[in-house]
Amino acid sequence: MGNYSKPEDILYHTQLSRNMLMGAEIALLPGDPGRVASLAEAMGPTVELTSHREYTSCLAQVRDQPVLVCSTGMGGPSTAICLEELARLGITRVIRVGTTGSIQDNLNLGDVVIMKGAVRLEGTSTHYAPIEFPAVPDLELTQLLVYSAEIQHIPYQVGICVSSDTFWPGQERYDSFTGYVLRRFQGSMREWQQLGVTNYEMETAAVFVTAQALGIRAASLCGVVAKRTESEEIASPDVYKMAEDRFQRIVKRGLEELLARE
Ligand code: URA
Repeated sequence: MGNYSKPEDILYHTQLSRNMLMGAEIALLPGDPGRVASLAEAMGPTVELTSHREYTSCLAQVRDQPVLVCSTGMGGPSTAICLEELARLGITRVIRVGTTGSIQDNLNLGDVVIMKGAVRLEGTSTHYAPIEFPAVPDLELTQLLVYSAEIQHIPYQVGICVSSDTFWPGQERYDSFTGYVLRRFQGSMREWQQLGVTNYEMETAAVFVTAQALGIRAASLCGVVAKRTESEEIASPDVYKMAEDRFQRIVKRGLEELLARE
């Protein structure tokens, strides 16, 4: 039960309508609009839908089923807006597909992290659930991603990310304009490492909590493009390509499995 849109209604932010989605109930959510087409094409035959602000969308076919690919933009606020509209369009399952910085030594550039939880170091999710509420994914969707990575022998770990509202201070990066990190965050990476947290990114907590509040099932996986135990820098495009190829293969096989079971 919810406030679904009419088939022909074009929603304000995503500029999508139910008619455009052709009955799709699953959405893949990269952050970057520039990654939408390649992610969709890696899934199967694709049609472009629309592009408005940070929301670029395509419809891919997987096992003859329509799957929406829609970018969320960076960070929680634009991600929650996207999820609100997708819920109204009839989307019931989402998979965030992003990039991340690893903070454990045994997680290497190009590896994939499949999230089993997220630290809510952000504000958006608190508008949907009190901070005591856990940011956790749907178990079945997550297990499918793990299964997909396993059978394809793709290097991955299941981990807990810190979802930060900022790329620099919240992720304890010192290579910013001022180089200053608030005392609150100085030494925070060491604390997260000690707690077994695997990686930093910016959207997963908002995806998990907002999805839960909207009655949507969610999972999240990210490719490692910065190895923070060695450097604050983002790695070369080659590393990005390797990570992208891996997370795309995990998602494709996972979706095929999911749709075959239905
Ligand atoms: N995305 C982040 O939020 N942090 C990183 O280090 C890399 C990608």
